[in-house]
Amino acid sequence: MLGCMLQSRPTAPSNSDRSRGAPARQRRVWRISSAGSLRNLKLVTETLPPPAPGEAQVRVHAVGLNFADIFACQGLYSATPKGPFVPGLEAAGTIEAIGAGVVTRHVGERVMVLTRFGGYADAMNVPEATLWPMPSDWSFAQAAAYPVQALTAWYGIERLGNARKDSIVLVQSAAGGVGLQALQALHSLEAKPIAVVGSESKRQWLIAERGLAPEAIVVRKALYPAKLDAALQHYRASGFDVVFDAVYGDAFQPAFDRLAPEGRYVLFGAADFMGRGARPNPLRLLSNWLRRPKLDPLAMIPLNRGLLAFNLIWLWEQAARLPESMRATLALIPSPPHIGARFAFERAIDAMKLLQGGRTTGKVVLELPVD
Ligand SMILES: NC(=O)c1ccc[n+]([C@@H]2O[C@H](COP(=O)([O-])OP(=O)(O)OC[C@H]3O[C@@H](n4cnc5c(N)ncnc54)[C@H](OP(=O)(O)O)[C@@H]3O)[C@@H](O)[C@H]2O)c1
Repeated sequence: MLGCMLQSRPTAPSNSDRSRGAPARQRRVWRISSAGSLRNLKLVTETLPPPAPGEAQVRVHAVGLNFADIFACQGLYSATPKGPFVPGLEAAGTIEAIGAGVVTRHVGERVMVLTRFGGYADAMNVPEATLWPMPSDWSFAQAAAYPVQALTAWYGIERLGNARKDSIVLVQSAAGGVGLQALQALHSLEAKPIAVVGSESKRQWLIAERGLAPEAIVVRKALYPAKLDAALQHYRASGFDVVFDAVYGDAFQPAFDRLAPEGRYVLFGAADFMGRGARPNPLRLLSNWLRRPKLDPLAMIPLNRGLLAFNLIWLWEQAARLPESMRATLALIPSPPHIGARFAFERAIDAMKLLQGGRTTGKVVLELPVD
């Protein structure tokens, strides 16, 4: 149904005269003067020009937060723009104007936005190809929470990980934004999840809210390797078919050692490098860097194991592939995401600090008035 919805063209009136006469408008954005510290992030008012040809202007009602936003503001994310920038990779809102040549979207339409930075804004101009119609029964918060983390889960679990029915799949940070979407993907595929989390409270949350078997949830602390073995025993399995990991650090080697032959380790982040302060702690970074796990590719040959790594930024630079990727994602994960925390747009820094603390479940969103 969602696939059909994405293919259908809106019954829009002619686009010929919409935005050409649209005036520039004022907007509020969270802009950082330069990457390095969250303290450099300020709420400012600036002028937004009318949408250029091929663009739509979206009034934003909700912004989805990602762990990458914090890495970007701290200067630890390789894709971060040089100089001042507005963080934020996704949002949802209403189209207020369209530029010349826009044919698939119309004014008044409710859309999800995938944007390469620029998401922490109450209005933005974005290329037509980066907009998707919102499922009609989703809230703006749910729609803003969906694109990045669902695409990440689809790409890592199904496309790269090749998880299938009955695959044994370890998901790190399983109660987080990407993690819950990964569990949804595994549910659709009828695969067997082993969820790893950082605290007992998250373990209890997954049992109560997601109905996961207690034996299949591991708290990544003392006796982590033995707990992984016990979780495998729950499924009478001897190894993981897929590991989906954005924690890295000490979490890596015990999971890699338990990959089954033909198993695929999908690595897509290093949350373990994150500190608690506004700016990165150089000593912690250096220590984590020196202690980082290292693999010998030759040693992988007799073990028949593989390591794959990805950054979603690469995927959305492949503009021609994005519509198909989003369709596949919505087919695999058709339900709305879980919102764990909501903040007013003006409290973006509080929201980022909460996410940075590592105790959130599901998605953190910023909300703006809809009226
Ligand atoms: N490569 C890509 O394209 C891509 C795309 C999207 C996301 N990601 C990565 O995927 C991961 C999840 O992203 P998300 O936005 O959904 O965030 P999230 O999972 O909602 O939050 C991050 C989680 O990381 C875990 N964590 C481990 N070490 C930590 C530390 N030192 N400080 C804070 N948290 C720590 C915590 O969960 P537990 O303690 O329960 O594990 C925390 O809740 C992030 O690492 C992100 O960078 C990568």
